Amino acid sequence: MAIERTFLMIKPGSVERGLVGEIIGRFEKKGLKIVALKLAQPTRALMEKHYEEHREKEFFEGLISYATSGPALSLVIEGEDAIAAARKIAGATDPKEADSGTIRGDYALDVRRNVIHTADSKEAAEREIALHFENSFLTKHVSQEDKSAVLAL
Ligand code: RTP
Ligand code: MG
Repeated sequence: MAIERTFLMIKPGSVERGLVGEIIGRFEKKGLKIVALKLAQPTRALMEKHYEEHREKEFFEGLISYATSGPALSLVIEGEDAIAAARKIAGATDPKEADSGTIRGDYALDVRRNVIHTADSKEAAEREIALHFENSFLTKHVSQEDKSAVLAL
């Protein structure tokens, strides 16, 4: 058990469909805190770097053109075992295999338009957070103990 941060991106098609509130709500209701949020159309250079592990795959070009097709919402969320928790909430990569109750299971039919990206490891989360956000955009959450310390001053 560890407090982790992870990176999510609500893909352009889902922003276009008006699913942002519904999707963010699932992470918030689970207890994960938003520590950074950005709406912007990702550039090709950014997404090629983001998905560089897939550069040689046959789906790479389709993946990049979809990821850059309109505004996307990037988020950093924080909480206990946040990386695995977010992957579970998102569901299996292919919506046909994703369980009902997961985001991909509930809102998608095909693998390219699978609604959301979530980082798949601690290393990926750190790399992606650094790639998409400047440090100054990351909120530092004040823990309960810190709040008590402030009130005691
Ligand atoms: P993501 O990185 O987007 O969170 O997805 P993931 O970890 O569940 O899956 P990954 O293997 O990293 O794949 C990245 C994205 O590439 C698209 N994809 N298309 N066979 C295909 O056509 C295919 N396989 C993967 C998906 O949109 C996937 O999210
Ligand atoms: Mg992935």
